[in-house]
Amino acid sequence: MRIDVISIFPDYLAALDLSLIGKARAAGLLDLAVHDLRDFTTDRHRTVDDTPYGGGAGMVMKPEPWAQALTAVLDVGPDADADDAPLSEDAVPGSGVAADRPVLVIPSPAGEVFRQATAHELAEADHLVFACGRYEGIDERVAEWAADRFAVRPLSIGDYVLNGGEVATLAMIEAIVRLIPGVIGNPGSLTEESHADGLLEYPMYTKPASWRGRDVPDVLLSGDHGRIARWRREEQLARTAARRPDLLPPVC
Ligand code: ADE
Repeated sequence: MRIDVISIFPDYLAALDLSLIGKARAAGLLDLAVHDLRDFTTDRHRTVDDTPYGGGAGMVMKPEPWAQALTAVLDVGPDADADDAPLSEDAVPGSGVAADRPVLVIPSPAGEVFRQATAHELAEADHLVFACGRYEGIDERVAEWAADRFAVRPLSIGDYVLNGGEVATLAMIEAIVRLIPGVIGNPGSLTEESHADGLLEYPMYTKPASWRGRDVPDVLLSGDHGRIARWRREEQLARTAARRPDLLPPVC
């Protein structure tokens, strides 16, 4: 997989050198590049923003640096040799991901919510591009223009407002990259975690069996795998009902 990130704060993305993502890059499972949007400006001040038409608080990101940057990442990405014609016809219906079309993720509190299912969907893509907006966001015409070249996905990581798309991009990249085959050593851990089966994960314990007056539940020491599996399932349902009842299937 190839990932390009475009930001006016490339240093924010330094964490992508670390841990599992850094290892995936070193192992050649992931080709990742971070680009400074200001490198695609043409004026002396490297201007990326301007006042909003219609008035209002804050600044809006100008469209031209984005068009230049997005064109540049298409020219160096894995799709560079693909046909030059705009790629708008071949998306898998409803998925937003086509085998030969790069996906442009625009992190935004006004986007569709990014979930584990979204991470699985995007983990199938050959090329992801993250456009990190700042200020009041990116001129709307950039997403329209980009739709001829990319599958455009405005995505939110939750119902709160961050100062820009960088932190959301870090969260999404981490959730996506760990699903790429070979990135996580023990793939079993991907099936036994929160959201893998639509429920929250059961509680986990390690040694010692007794700690500060608190004991690990007896069932986990029983060696009875059937009982352990049933107990874990009950804990998953109880925890999900208590913390995230919205995740439980509706009772008919
Ligand atoms: N940019 C600002 N807030 C955001 C959010 N909640 N999700 C994604 N991108 C954002």
